[in-house]
Amino acid sequence: MSENLLFTPITIGKKIASNRLVINAMECCDADPEGNPSPRTCRRYERLFEGEAGVIFLEAITVTYESRARLNQLSIMPHNQKALEKFTQAMRATNPKPLFIWQLTHAGELSNPEFSRRVSVKPLPGLGGDLLSEEEVDAIIDQFALSAKIAYHCGADGVDLKLCHGYFGTQVLRPYNDRSWKYGGAWERRRQFAFDLYERVRKAVPDPNFLVGSKVTMWEGIPGGQGCAGPDSAVMDLSEPLDLLQGLKERGANFILVSAGNPSLTIALAHSDKRIPDYAYLHHLFQREARKVLAPQVVTMGSAYSIFRDGKTTS
Ligand SMILES: Cc1cc2nc3c(=O)[nH]c(=O)nc-3n(C[C@H](O)[C@H](O)[C@H](O)COP(=O)(O)O)c2cc1C
Repeated sequence: MSENLLFTPITIGKKIASNRLVINAMECCDADPEGNPSPRTCRRYERLFEGEAGVIFLEAITVTYESRARLNQLSIMPHNQKALEKFTQAMRATNPKPLFIWQLTHAGELSNPEFSRRVSVKPLPGLGGDLLSEEEVDAIIDQFALSAKIAYHCGADGVDLKLCHGYFGTQVLRPYNDRSWKYGGAWERRRQFAFDLYERVRKAVPDPNFLVGSKVTMWEGIPGGQGCAGPDSAVMDLSEPLDLLQGLKERGANFILVSAGNPSLTIALAHSDKRIPDYAYLHHLFQREARKVLAPQVVTMGSAYSIFRDGKTTS
């Protein structure tokens, strides 16, 4: 085996990844009309499993078909269980080694109104959508918990409770969510959403071997965005995201996948561009700061490495 640290095993929770290469979540919108993996989805993941990465993330899979970002998005509701089980078995048969972690998502205000219900906790200018009641937000947490249970029964190694990229988790956590309601206004109330989410998911799947973690946007780069200094400020302030990581660590998170930006609004920050490598270096700063809070109990994973894949940042 190579001496390179990347190719050495790492313990995540009670599981072991055979190496430290991670395939980030990548939606490709090729599910069938019920939200089940299509032959094309299966072929994509087979190819990933044929590789030797230690961890593979399943792309953003919606906990409800009612509100979703993509027409042909994968879905994880009770009617999808059988198909997802078969899909997982096929991937394990291709290569049993990688840890397979599923990214559970709710699109909230990024749900596409052309085919689903756009909902919001405080609409960003230009987005809109139905304002959710506290009971509806509670029901969304229940949907995440049910989906985590389905993932567990289908044979996933764990779930990524998505708190990044402007999707529902971000919408609640960002300072722009300054309405006075159960999960709005003061940081202590906004972060409570993530804490309640973790508590309910752990309760739904009490097996300590099941991994629970999140992909987190450290700085969204829009006024009032996640990791910004206030509801009207785009200035970076990592105090809330770092406090969130501390709280998730205390609630038993096994991993955090550090990210940044909002692909709908600040795409260069989320998916670094070879012509603007500066943002990728910013990811390194976020990863270092996150690791200071999380290590050694919680594994820190990074993103935005792809532009370095040829050992250089220019094309
Ligand atoms: C086609 C495509 C689909 C993506 N889908 C997701 C997704 O489902 N969930 C997610 O968190 N990020 C998604 N991303 C973002 C990546 O996971 C990653 O955060 C970003 O591309 C930067 O990291 P990289 O250098 O590893 O690509 C997607 C990116 C691309 C290019």
